[in-house]
Amino acid sequence: MNELALQLNETIQQEEKSVYEMLSDLGRKIYFPKIGILSQSAEAKAKANKYNATIGTALENGQPMHLKVIQDTLSAYSPKDLYEYAPPAGKPELRSAWRNKMIEENPNLQGKSFSNPIVTNALTHGLSIVADLFADSEDAVIIPDKNWENYELTFGIRRGATIVQYPLYNDNNEFNDAGLKEAILAQKDRGKAIVVLNFPNNPTGYTPGRAEVARIAEAVKAGAEAGIKVVAVTDDAYYGLFFDDSITESMFGQLCHLHPNVLPIKIDGATKEEYVWGFRVGFITYGHTSSALLDALEQKTLGIIRATISSGPHPSQTFVLHALQAPEFAAQKQEKYEIMKGRANKVKKLLDSGAYDDAWDYYPFNSGYFMCLKLKTVGAEELRKHLLNEYGIGTIALGDTDLRIAFSCTEEEQIEDLFQLIYQGVKDVEKVSVS
Ligand SMILES: Cc1ncc(COP(=O)(O)O)c(C=O)c1O
Repeated sequence: MNELALQLNETIQQEEKSVYEMLSDLGRKIYFPKIGILSQSAEAKAKANKYNATIGTALENGQPMHLKVIQDTLSAYSPKDLYEYAPPAGKPELRSAWRNKMIEENPNLQGKSFSNPIVTNALTHGLSIVADLFADSEDAVIIPDKNWENYELTFGIRRGATIVQYPLYNDNNEFNDAGLKEAILAQKDRGKAIVVLNFPNNPTGYTPGRAEVARIAEAVKAGAEAGIKVVAVTDDAYYGLFFDDSITESMFGQLCHLHPNVLPIKIDGATKEEYVWGFRVGFITYGHTSSALLDALEQKTLGIIRATISSGPHPSQTFVLHALQAPEFAAQKQEKYEIMKGRANKVKKLLDSGAYDDAWDYYPFNSGYFMCLKLKTVGAEELRKHLLNEYGIGTIALGDTDLRIAFSCTEEEQIEDLFQLIYQGVKDVEKVSVS
């Protein structure tokens, strides 16, 4: 094994043996080259004041060479903030701005020790780094039965891990912490579990309340106390869009310092929070009391980044940084939040009117972009196709009974019409089934 990888492994083992045991085979082997093109270029950037002939970019008139056709449309930004490679860990100012934002928005992080966020090519990339560093083919990845389908590809197909599911809701229509606990404890023989907690949830739009969150943390802790090494990942893609009675913080804070057998990892980013889906700016953050261990995990993360995408896109990091620092940012975000909340409330009001009760129930929702109907009389896929072909309405069918509706992309004044047509669609399909 490479000497640098060995050193990182030694540090991790010394600081928290259980974290070393969580690493995948690749996670143990990976390292970030300290001596090489990147480090020599960084040194030259600081010291080479005459000629810096190190890195594979081009310079002209003391700034990055660029084409006018591109710069003309981006003239608000300086070429140095667009064209140069961003460091593999991301722009340092962006990393600190995101960390500050996290601390401001999550009082439960007070007094907790966690790493500087490392920039990823949005959340999928963050999740895939977790999969690379921690998932081997014999490992279990625990997710609820209502989940974002890409976990299957990221952890299952790509890394060969076994996906273990538990029902998201219990009989009281609350988060099923008992199911989660059972799924974790069932991994005793494996000795390890990767738990993905996604709130607000895709597809249901559910975020638990304070008491439920305490029980989720208890479930994770119970696994840890039983000797299971738990990689506890929070997928905070829809963070901040909390419209009703739920926590308004990430669970990451609750998981930090929970137990030596728990490694909390926060995956978040600008994608959904700042409405910049195509920018591809996300973050991965680790929670632990040892700064040496956090540094070692950062080096391993950079190794994966260097080996896969080398570094993330620079322009979009600049755009997001600019937004975070802009005085108008908070007010503009609040404005969009109110629009999303208005849509969510409108959906709930309509569904609670009783007008559609013979056609569907709905899963509890209070946050995010989506909600899910549970159809009573017709199949989800049949209805989806019918709505698309007869009414030009696009929805997502999940399993036999569930239909996901993105209220995020429907104007408030169109929501009633949308649901009325979906209801009409159900009635049409019912008739066909009877005749
Ligand atoms: C729960 C969840 N996590 C992660 C992502 C991926 O986000 P990104 O587009 O930033 O990769 C999505 C996108 O739909 C999502 O719904």
